[in-house]
Amino acid sequence: MSDRAFYVTTPIYYISGNPHIGHAFTSVAADVLARYHRTKGRAFFLTGTDEHGQKVAQAAEAAGQTPKAFTDGLVGRWKDLCAAFDVRYDDFIRTTEPRHMEQVVAVFERLKETGDIYLGKYEGWYCTNDETFWLESKLIDGRCPNPECRRDVQWLSEENWFFALSKYRDRLLAYFREHPRFLRPERAYNEMLVTIEAGLDDLCISRTNIDWGIALPGGGTIYVWVDALLNYITALDWQHDGERFKTFWPANVQIIGKEIARFHTIIWPAMLWALGLPAPELVFAHGWITVEGEKMSKSKGNVVDPFAVIETFGADTIRYFLLREAPFGSDFSFGEEKVRLRRNGDLGNDLGNLVKRSLAMLTKYRDGIVPAASLPSTIGPRFTTLGDTVGARIAELDFRGALEAIWELVAALNVTIEERKPWDLHKRDERDALDLVLYDLCEGIRWLAHLIAPFMPTTARGIWTQFGFEGEPHGDWSTELVWGKLAAGTQTVPAEGALFPRIDATVAIA
Ligand code: MSP
Repeated sequence: MSDRAFYVTTPIYYISGNPHIGHAFTSVAADVLARYHRTKGRAFFLTGTDEHGQKVAQAAEAAGQTPKAFTDGLVGRWKDLCAAFDVRYDDFIRTTEPRHMEQVVAVFERLKETGDIYLGKYEGWYCTNDETFWLESKLIDGRCPNPECRRDVQWLSEENWFFALSKYRDRLLAYFREHPRFLRPERAYNEMLVTIEAGLDDLCISRTNIDWGIALPGGGTIYVWVDALLNYITALDWQHDGERFKTFWPANVQIIGKEIARFHTIIWPAMLWALGLPAPELVFAHGWITVEGEKMSKSKGNVVDPFAVIETFGADTIRYFLLREAPFGSDFSFGEEKVRLRRNGDLGNDLGNLVKRSLAMLTKYRDGIVPAASLPSTIGPRFTTLGDTVGARIAELDFRGALEAIWELVAALNVTIEERKPWDLHKRDERDALDLVLYDLCEGIRWLAHLIAPFMPTTARGIWTQFGFEGEPHGDWSTELVWGKLAAGTQTVPAEGALFPRIDATVAIA
């Protein structure tokens, strides 16, 4: 990954959906990347809401509101979701904002001029729910082939604008072959490669039957997916070649769920090339969160409410769980029992107790003041490359691998306490040995504050302030994670409570 300014995006969320744990998952992952890259330099993190389309118009009508008033009323809960999960975005774009809508029309005009958008006749089957045209051969029993949908489709016949996607097929094929890491994980890459190889049709990009969308000059509205995809550049002020655009495009990482890979890795690069712009460096299609192995759905009543789980566990525990539980490209199942195990084990016993015990011993034996170590560290030399390892894994979106590497340091510090028994050293008045173990523990914990900061910002801050430091851990790991940087004489201020108080299962009372 290059050293220039870093740009990461999430998909923009369908505003009328209910925020659930899957949405929080996408945003948390992007937040971890952004927080990590901010330690190294400039980073820009974009998220937002996808607000046009038939479904929103219908929901607004059902609620007796205009679509505009309806979406204005809904956007708050998507911002609340970010706030609840400590997701610190740099910009939140709504597709109903003038800054976005104007630029979408400008894209349309530009591509009409170049011939990449042309007028043609469309006849075919249309699924209102998915807002997608389907070939007859793709329908299943005459219904929408999307396994999540399977609703009736309508026959539409109209003059429409088309995007010349087929023209970009060879370039896409070459691009995929030359950039095997453009789309991760490999499964998604292979799937898209096969789709491109099979051939691509031009894409119908205007709608005459949908009013709630960006109006096109001459009538009709623009296909909601084209509208939505463009958010990634309109937020940067593409049209005026703004400072943000010059600094941050192409995006370094675009995080998406696996079901929207076709839009992001076939249609999107082709649109960008048509505009003379480069494709993003990496699109990562993460896995799906299920509940007991089943897809979350309203009808099954198994949708995990992200606000409720935060209420029980706090943001950091859920952030940790989401990224520790499975490789980022894989599906995994969400369950409170599993969260509790991680909470009480990895977080409470391993990390929380380590901090608590270490600072308590420092208070008891050295009045809470970090001693100078006159003996050489036994732990430091084992971890000299840890910052590089964790950084490289985060940059690869191997969040689980990054956390595992961090927990090797947690484990080593816990083992140190058990093996070197500071209480015995104190009893035997082995001052130098006790100074060393106390210094190693404090220095290791300072390192941990830096390393966990992208994942668990509140906990990192909680550790930081116990060292009497201002704000939160910051700075490039290559200069901060140098064993011995913690100044002897630092006065610690141990917190009253535990970082991760134990959470037991609530026992249902019959
Ligand atoms: N609006 C489109 C994206 C347009 S981007 C130009 C959309 N919105 S969505 O609200 O349906 O989904 C947004 C993201 O949430 C997707 O990346 C999707 O994969 C993710 N998730 C939705 N449900 C999910 C799970 N159950 N598990 C994990 N993530 C999933 O698609």
